[in-house]
Amino acid sequence: MTLARWILTGGLMFSPLIFVAQPPAAAYREPFRPQLHFSPREKWTNDPNGLVYYKGVYHLFFQHYPGDIIWGPMHWGHATSKDLIHWRQQPIALYPDSLGYIFSGCVVVDSANTSGFGQKGKVPLVAIFTHHDPAGEKKGNKDYQYQSLAYSLDDGNTWIKYRQNPVLKNPGIADFRDPNVMWYKPGKKWVMTLATKDRVTFYSSRDLKSWTKESEFGKDQGAHEGVWECPNLFPMQLDGATHWVLLVSINPGGPNGGSATQYFIGQFDGKNFYTGGSTIRWIDYGPDDYAGITWNNTGKRKIFLGWMSNWIYANQVPTTAWRNAMTLPRQLRLVRAGGGGEIYLSSLPVQELNSQAAKPVIMNGVPIDSLTDLSDKIHASATQYKLTLHADSIKDFFITFSNPHGQQMALGYEKASNRWYIDRALSGKTDFNQEFPKKFFSPRIAATKTLDLTVVMDVSSLELFADGGLTVMTAVFFPDAPLTRLHIGTNEPWKIRQLSYTPLRSIW
Ligand code: FRU
Repeated sequence: MTLARWILTGGLMFSPLIFVAQPPAAAYREPFRPQLHFSPREKWTNDPNGLVYYKGVYHLFFQHYPGDIIWGPMHWGHATSKDLIHWRQQPIALYPDSLGYIFSGCVVVDSANTSGFGQKGKVPLVAIFTHHDPAGEKKGNKDYQYQSLAYSLDDGNTWIKYRQNPVLKNPGIADFRDPNVMWYKPGKKWVMTLATKDRVTFYSSRDLKSWTKESEFGKDQGAHEGVWECPNLFPMQLDGATHWVLLVSINPGGPNGGSATQYFIGQFDGKNFYTGGSTIRWIDYGPDDYAGITWNNTGKRKIFLGWMSNWIYANQVPTTAWRNAMTLPRQLRLVRAGGGGEIYLSSLPVQELNSQAAKPVIMNGVPIDSLTDLSDKIHASATQYKLTLHADSIKDFFITFSNPHGQQMALGYEKASNRWYIDRALSGKTDFNQEFPKKFFSPRIAATKTLDLTVVMDVSSLELFADGGLTVMTAVFFPDAPLTRLHIGTNEPWKIRQLSYTPLRSIW
């Protein structure tokens, strides 16, 4: 493509922040490149960081190594969006420095200028992140992770590191990282939730610069097979009451091996977090949703984003220009479910995704036999699409998305064990790691008799949202050709009340 044509086709477009040259769309068309999900234009990413909504812009910072497609010296990459769907990559926000790599953290809007970073009435956005000193780690020290600040006086565009970093020194805990900060209104103070090895530790501060330890949570609660990482504490409402949600990622020790994110629902009084119940709950039971946190400053609406990979094989998946992507942004809600009416988190793709919808195929009263081929009916030529199923009863059933090479992603429900599953054993390229080609299970949480299922396919990822988002499973896969064939099967007489198939347009 000539330069002139590139410019005409949108190569140079106005950014809400600055003029950024965008590459031709071809750069986002490589094999396996997600067409609905954010992935970095080039090179490596892991955790989402610093999710904040400010002045109509959603910011997504991300763990990034711009030098290679494997994990390395961490930077904060940066992307922005006005609708959570269309992303524009921005210049790198934070580079490693003499204190270390820039590990995960958050961004808060310091409207009252408690930090004093604001100047001339400009509201500072403040990033609170972990500095990880690789030299200290190599020496075998324990105190090589500590918390630091950077601030932006141009609405998140450029960042200045605080001269007196770090602001929270390490007390001798090898895993001391991933600060997540919120304004605790009743106490007029900031509260930091920090992952501290096998628990979280809460700190508070009036100015984001000096921090006091408040309490610890979790040593004897939740899953503990691996280290705790990337916590996020926030209030949510249900039936007029406030409940506090605490997300904690753990690696390894997820329900299907490797990395996963558990959550607790309880109360927080500004000092301590309390929770009852001992059942471990996961925000996503699939293998590929890790280190997820929610956007700050979105009011009562809570929007979650995870990293769509797993530390077991994140460095080995067969992409070449970039490696790894984020999940779809998901709206979280508290719901009562299960036999006992307990409170759970549900997650569903944000409604903004509907902006990508092309004309749906809707079928009513679809009879399903042992192998019903729906491929011709849906004319599945799209590589990204949404499938929803509603039925008045829930049976043992499976769905396969396949290609002419015999490669497939399967999912389904097993009635006897009351479990959902995703099976990627035959999904294409799987031999880069022996843990990859597997079947993954999740308990069905809902006690309803009906079926409500949404699946979002995007070139190389499948996200399953069952029972209104009560059970979620995410899995990536790498087929040699798009999975455009659709089969549904069951061994009992069954009818799907409504099936809809909606092709989704690329965001790039
Ligand atoms: C989670 C994590 C964080 C850390 C970051 C480093 O995936 O291990 O705990 O800050 O990744 O890239």
